Amino acid sequence: MANIILLGPPGAGKGTQSKRLVDERAMVQLSTGDMLREAKTSGTEMGKRVAAVMERGELVTDEIVIGLIEEKLKGAAAGGFIFDGFPRTLKQADALGDLLARMGQGLDAVIEMQVDDAALVARITGRYTCGNCGEVYHDTTRPTKVAGTCDVCGSHDMKRRADDNEDALKTRLMEYYKKTSPLIGYYYAKGGLSTVDGLAEMDAVATAIAKVLDRN
Ligand code: AP5
Repeated sequence: MANIILLGPPGAGKGTQSKRLVDERAMVQLSTGDMLREAKTSGTEMGKRVAAVMERGELVTDEIVIGLIEEKLKGAAAGGFIFDGFPRTLKQADALGDLLARMGQGLDAVIEMQVDDAALVARITGRYTCGNCGEVYHDTTRPTKVAGTCDVCGSHDMKRRADDNEDALKTRLMEYYKKTSPLIGYYYAKGGLSTVDGLAEMDAVATAIAKVLDRN
């Protein structure tokens, strides 16, 4: 069992690799982005508050996302938890450390996925997702086998995210460099930071992540 963080800018491939780990290692993916998008469509007060913030590409408050993670950590994860898109600030990182310590657990690896900014624009603007099962595709690097039909569940409900445009991406990148990238130094100092080349092909990235996990 391993608890890991996948750390990287928007479009680094965190969601893509998390899904593989869920399938291959019985790990549980905790994506704060997915949780917030769920809250957005639920029509709750919190959902309404976060919708506009996310569409602009800014970070949602620490209190909200820490609360969401705390709730999910009450469930079990045979293979361990994958923290995808969390933590994103030093305050969130401290909170995660405290929450895991209270459960008598820790972090086994923090995996930084390195990708250059030019590649991120192409990845984000070409992404689409199955609205039914959440499978992630890309116009050029991973299109569906039959146009408009999900390879996994056969749904025709393909969606593009409201924040997957160049303007919102600029803000998302700025938020990443200002508030999230300091976590690289934070986890380096704590120990347990590994780096993988996120620009490599998806299978090669998966192999590099597996190597880190098997080392632990
Ligand atoms: P979130 O949903 O977490 O988005 P993100 O971090 O911007 O990451 P993405 O989901 O865009 O990218 P990814 O790294 O998962 O890439 P993917 O695998 O899809 O957050 C959204 C918003 O929610 C935030 O902006 C913020 O407002 C809020 N939020 C979330 N968490 C928060 C927190 N903790 N605190 C505060 N606010 C928070 O891949 C992208 C594309 O590239 C896909 O099309 C894929 O097919 C393709 N691709 C992937 N890997 C490869 C590869 N190796 N080669 C070629 N193509 C590839």
